[in-house]
Amino acid sequence: MSSTISLSPHDEPFPASGAPTTAGPWWRNAVVYQVYPRSFADGNGDGIGDLTGIRARLPYLSKLGVDALWINPWYPSPMADGGYDVADYRDIEPDFGTLAEAEALIAEAHTLGIRIIIDLVPNHCSDVHPWFIEALAAAPGSVARERFHFLEGKGANGELPPNDWQSRFGGPAWTRTVNADGTPGQWYLHLYAPEQPDLNWDNPEIRTEFEGVLQFWFDRGVDGIRIDVADGLIKEPGLPDGEGFDPAKGVPYSDRDGVHDIYRAWRAIADSYDGDRVFVGEMWIPDPERFAMYLRPDELHTAFNFDFLSCPWDKATMRSSIDTTMRLNGPIGAPATWVLSNHDVTRHVTRYGKEDTSFSFADRRHGAPNDAVLGMRRARAAALLTMALPGSVYVYQGEELGLDEIEDLDDSLRQDPVWERSEHRDPGRDGCRIPLPWSTEPTSLGFSPADATAAPWLPQPARWAAVSAEVQETDPASMLALYRAVIKLRKAQPGLLTDDLDWIDCGDDCLSFTRGPQFGFVLNLGAEPAVLPAHETLLLTSSPLTEDGRLPADTAAWLRLTPASD
Ligand code: GLC
Ligand code: CA
Repeated sequence: MSSTISLSPHDEPFPASGAPTTAGPWWRNAVVYQVYPRSFADGNGDGIGDLTGIRARLPYLSKLGVDALWINPWYPSPMADGGYDVADYRDIEPDFGTLAEAEALIAEAHTLGIRIIIDLVPNHCSDVHPWFIEALAAAPGSVARERFHFLEGKGANGELPPNDWQSRFGGPAWTRTVNADGTPGQWYLHLYAPEQPDLNWDNPEIRTEFEGVLQFWFDRGVDGIRIDVADGLIKEPGLPDGEGFDPAKGVPYSDRDGVHDIYRAWRAIADSYDGDRVFVGEMWIPDPERFAMYLRPDELHTAFNFDFLSCPWDKATMRSSIDTTMRLNGPIGAPATWVLSNHDVTRHVTRYGKEDTSFSFADRRHGAPNDAVLGMRRARAAALLTMALPGSVYVYQGEELGLDEIEDLDDSLRQDPVWERSEHRDPGRDGCRIPLPWSTEPTSLGFSPADATAAPWLPQPARWAAVSAEVQETDPASMLALYRAVIKLRKAQPGLLTDDLDWIDCGDDCLSFTRGPQFGFVLNLGAEPAVLPAHETLLLTSSPLTEDGRLPADTAAWLRLTPASD
């Protein structure tokens, strides 16, 4: 097998740290680190993470070996939904910094060979966006209201919502406005919180505006854009009730055929720029065939693979999810993505320690006991699995430290709107958004400077001192050491640069495959230790082998199958 790697011209400004990183565009097999800015690192001591904090930690991220950062929304926002309520798409939230600092961050990351992906929120804006303020003040039927979905209510006096759609955060997806004279007015649509009015993508002005926003950020050097709620922009004409809508056509507020035109126009913009810019779609849609349509060659380059994220720790389900992904992505030439955690879901160290190891928004989170040791063991093995699969891998901040979900946060401190909107049935997503522990320093575990004026915006458990980056830095058995090792090894394996994957039979309990003639992977999902397939070198394991050299339960191994060719 040839180990020659062709680098695209765009790779030149990115000094490779020794080993080749990619065949084809960088995003085909990048390791992307997700930064939730509010919780990553606080540079100015106000208890809120910021761009100064991210810039100061770039050397840490470089040492981890990641190829790119995906930064959650960083725009001015009242933070009704953690920044997914955007008041100005062309600026930076003052709590996080300034536009000049964002430009400096992009430039500094680039000198370290790290690309920047930002998060665009096109489905809705903030209720303090100038457009929405103007719409509220304007009359029904006005141009200003045409930018959103304003409708008269049903019932004799318009006192009922225009249709039966429910907000994804709970409660109706409609809020009634109040006219200037104090009388009740029209209703407006919000698939999320009332502070997040949905934009009307049938209005050409919205399309033009967002195309300008894409150019604004591409002009500032961003390498990619994550598209929030990518399936939601187009609604079924007439906004019909969900009840009684033909199930064969899906749901009236998601995955409508017309959305693909938007992404074709966006792709043309991305393609007009130098280098390899990437789109990453966020779609939680159940039908894998419909999902793959977003990844056609003239649409989005990649999308988050939530089918795999939602999988239980089970051989057959994981295998079938991987197979489905490869089967659908292959023919359209789109790389797969592998995600275990993000800012919306239970951290997988905790999920994998529960009896039900799957993830679903419908029945999540509170109370189910979890076995922390088991969860950690599986999370280590899952890191080796995802890093061995074809495609790109997302690492959610703190995952590399093995952080767990904080499930006992005091209810009075919860900030996620899901908590209130679900009438406290769903604890929300604060438990995976706790500020990171960087050191053992007692007041903020190094999240803020020592002379900080405020505590971290969500409290950290004191026990996280023991898993801080500083402590793990010197522990070769730590999760941090494992992530550094596996990312480094991944870059040095020619077999991992292609999309090839061949399953091999390794007994009933193991998931095992090769990538090219040299690289082998095994994960033992059974209860008993398993015999490793024949190999030349044991490259890495997620936990130690048994004394007689077998692979214990919930452990993964990377193997070199043949002698190195050089
Ligand atoms: C996406 C984001 C989530 C946000 C929602 C509404 O699902 O990941 O955090 O609440 O969109 O913007
Ligand atoms: Ca700060």
